[in-house]
Amino acid sequence: MAKKPKQSKTLPIYILNGPNLNLLGTREPEVYGYTTLPQVEKMCAEQAKRHGLSIVFLQSNLEGEIVDQIQEARTGSCAVIINPAGYGHTSIAILDSLQMLKVPVIECHLSNIHKREPYRHNSYVSKVATGIVMGLGAQGYLRAIDAVAEILKVSK
Ligand code: DQA
Repeated sequence: MAKKPKQSKTLPIYILNGPNLNLLGTREPEVYGYTTLPQVEKMCAEQAKRHGLSIVFLQSNLEGEIVDQIQEARTGSCAVIINPAGYGHTSIAILDSLQMLKVPVIECHLSNIHKREPYRHNSYVSKVATGIVMGLGAQGYLRAIDAVAEILKVSK
């Protein structure tokens, strides 16, 4: 009898996007670029697939909803990539929920927040992130996926 194909048991990477990122492509394109969020999602799905991984791609403008998504990622993900957007600079609630995760967390920003206004220089997410990618535009999400793949390979 033919053998059943092996099913990958790796959980998806949760890719979480905070407030205003739904408007990517039209929102200050000189800062954030012209790539839309659905395009970023497609690029991420393809990149994850190259590594034999899958993604759950979410966006929310609501802090509590992002906390819920992070809580879901505790048992439902192999890693979290998060662009917390404006909440990265303000949200202890998001920091608290990330702190509970046992999986790798990559913080991702399209722009280099350290090159910008001083109020963007602090990120609460950075305090718990495994690694950080910033200033590379939409490509940064792909580099974050590469980093996750590498980290998971090493930890296997
Ligand atoms: C951002 C940077 C944040 O300062 C800003 O509030 C965002 C987007 C980025 O991806 O560059 O909304 O996270």
